[in-house]
Amino acid sequence: MTHSIIFDTDPGVDDAQAIAIALAHPEIELLGMTTTFGNVTIEVATSNALLLAELAEQRIPVAQGAAEPMVKKKNPPPGHIHGDNGLGNMALPETTTHAVEQSAPQFIVEQVNARPGEVVLVAVGPLGNLAAALQLDPTLPQKVKQVVVMGGSIREGGNVTPVAEANMFNDPHAAAKVLQADWPLTLVGLDATHRCVLDPASMKKIVAGQEKLGRVLEESYAFYRRFYQKAQGIDGCCPHDSCALVWLLRPDLFTTRQGYLSVITEGLAEGQTLLSPLEREFVDARWSIGTPKQVCLDANGPAVIDWIVEALTPTE
Ligand code: BDR
Ligand code: CA
Repeated sequence: MTHSIIFDTDPGVDDAQAIAIALAHPEIELLGMTTTFGNVTIEVATSNALLLAELAEQRIPVAQGAAEPMVKKKNPPPGHIHGDNGLGNMALPETTTHAVEQSAPQFIVEQVNARPGEVVLVAVGPLGNLAAALQLDPTLPQKVKQVVVMGGSIREGGNVTPVAEANMFNDPHAAAKVLQADWPLTLVGLDATHRCVLDPASMKKIVAGQEKLGRVLEESYAFYRRFYQKAQGIDGCCPHDSCALVWLLRPDLFTTRQGYLSVITEGLAEGQTLLSPLEREFVDARWSIGTPKQVCLDANGPAVIDWIVEALTPTE
């Protein structure tokens, strides 16, 4: 089966790896990339998305989107994690292509309406573009095939605050709208992505299997790896954003639970995601807004890593 996807992204080291998969995988039709602030500014995000497609020698529409959160003040991009240019501060060639005229939300709405029931939205950055698309076309949930979000954390704790994952924290108001909309949505958060560690030996295989993109994946990974070594004491990186694509193609590698999702938007817990399991009843209905969603609570880490390595080492 081929999955027709729009990849909503803030590239970003792990975003870049996921983009490489989306560009290469025979079962993925990449309809376009939509960009958001997050790991980098919106301008850098758009330029990186264009550059990655150019290096893969593919013409993929890139639509620029959210420059800042819907409500809260924007935090500075995390240059110490992804580098100031989002790709580990390596020297990058100039891009020669340009973003399309439509904004990211317009692009999403147009594509979904052109192919009702067929388009999968894979979102791996802050969720402002999806929230704005919902505002632009409130019937979108009935026309989208599937939404996959890399973000959130149910039991794992946060990575940017004690309780919040970065994509949720960067725009909690947008996240609340997206996670509570009535569309089929799967959340691939830290409970799953922290089980997956891409070690240097696996990365070596990937680089050997890539052409022009290989150098970018290699150098940006080296920078990201130093952050993981320092921050978490592990030798390797969690390929968060690739995990969203792995879920789409190999859902059997994840353990999931059905339930209602909420996002805390204010205060010390801003960006925290809460899961109210389908079979549980709580004191009132405040935690059961919208339709039930699917939430990844665990992953078969080694099998996910093997899948990623295989996807990025095509044999011809
Ligand atoms: C998520 O935050 C970003 O820094 C990564 O690209 C990923 O999407 C992980 O929390
Ligand atoms: Ca990302």
